[in-house]
Amino acid sequence: MTITLPDTDAVDEHGYVPVVSLAGLDDPDQRVRIAGELGAALRRSGFYVAVDHTVPVPVFDRLTTAALEFFHRPEEEKARYGPSPADATRRGFTSRYRAASGIGVVTDEDAAEAWALNPYDESLGWRDLDALGPTYRAAFVHPNRIPDTPGFRESALTYFAAMESQILTLLALHALDLGLAPDHFTRLCAGAMTNLVVNHYPPKRAEPLPGQSCLGPHTDLGIMTGLLHSGQPGLQVVDRENPGAWIPVPPVPGGLVVNAGDLLVLVSGGRYRSALHRVVCGAEERLSVPVFVQPAPQTTVAPALPPLPGTDAAPVEFGAYFADRIGMMYADPED
Ligand SMILES: [Fe+2]
Repeated sequence: MTITLPDTDAVDEHGYVPVVSLAGLDDPDQRVRIAGELGAALRRSGFYVAVDHTVPVPVFDRLTTAALEFFHRPEEEKARYGPSPADATRRGFTSRYRAASGIGVVTDEDAAEAWALNPYDESLGWRDLDALGPTYRAAFVHPNRIPDTPGFRESALTYFAAMESQILTLLALHALDLGLAPDHFTRLCAGAMTNLVVNHYPPKRAEPLPGQSCLGPHTDLGIMTGLLHSGQPGLQVVDRENPGAWIPVPPVPGGLVVNAGDLLVLVSGGRYRSALHRVVCGAEERLSVPVFVQPAPQTTVAPALPPLPGTDAAPVEFGAYFADRIGMMYADPED
C-alpha cells in the first residue's frame, strides 16, 4: 500500500467539512433533508460537524477536567493504569503508539498519551458477553482501569453512553441516505465493542522531534467516530480534491465532529469515504475524546449495497480485523 501524504496546511474555503444542524429530525421532510446533507458530507470528505446534537457538553467538560488531572500525575502513577498485556483493546493508560502504523505508514512515536474505556467489562453489565467464544473472550473481556480522579468514572461512562446513542441515531440517518433498512446499523452494531479514548496532546515543542506527530495520519478502523470539539485547533483532514493540503476541521466549540470509519466505507460499497486525518500540536495542551462505534467481535461486516467498481468488498470478521489493525499501531517498527 502506498499512501501519499499532503505537505501543506490549507483553509476550508469550500465547506469540505460542513457544519450541519440536526434540529428538526422529528419532522419527516427535515429528516430526509438532514440525512441527505450528512450523506453528502460522507460521500465527499468523510467528515462533518453536527450541531444541535444530544451529547451533553457539561459532561464533556467534567470529563476533560478529570482527565487532565489524571494526565498531569507523575508517569509512574499513570503507568499503574496501563493495559493488561492480554487486553487486545488496550484499555487504560498508554503513551506509546503510532496511529499511522495502523495503515502501514512508518512514523516515529506519536506525542499523544491516551486512556481508553471499553464496554466489554463484566462489571459494567452493559453487554451480553455470552455470545463470545473463548478466544474473543480472552482477548476482549477485561476490567476497565478507571483513574480515581474526582468525576472521572461518572463522566466517562455518561459521555460514552450519550455519544454512542447519538452516533447510532446518525447511523439511522445514513441508512436512510443509503436506502438501507432503518435498523440496518443497529443490527450490525448489536453488542457493539465501541471504544472511548481520551487523547492528551502536549503543546507544540520548540523543536519537534523529526517524524513525530501529535497524532500521526490514519483512518479510523471502525464504523463511525464521534467527538465533541473543544474549540482548539489541531485536527486536520486530507483534501481529496486537493491532495497536497491538509484541511482543518472547523473548530466549533461543543460541535460534534463525526467521521466515517473504514468499515462504514465497506458497508456502503464504497459510496462513503473514510478520510486520512491527523492531529498537529498547538500552542496549548488539549484533550480529545473520540468514541469509536464498532461491531461485536463475532460480527461479519460486508457490503450492504453492490460495491462500486474498484472498491474493496471483502467481508471481515470484526474481532480478527480489529486485533490486526490495533496490533499494527502498537508494534515496534523493528519487529
Ligand atoms: Fe482518528
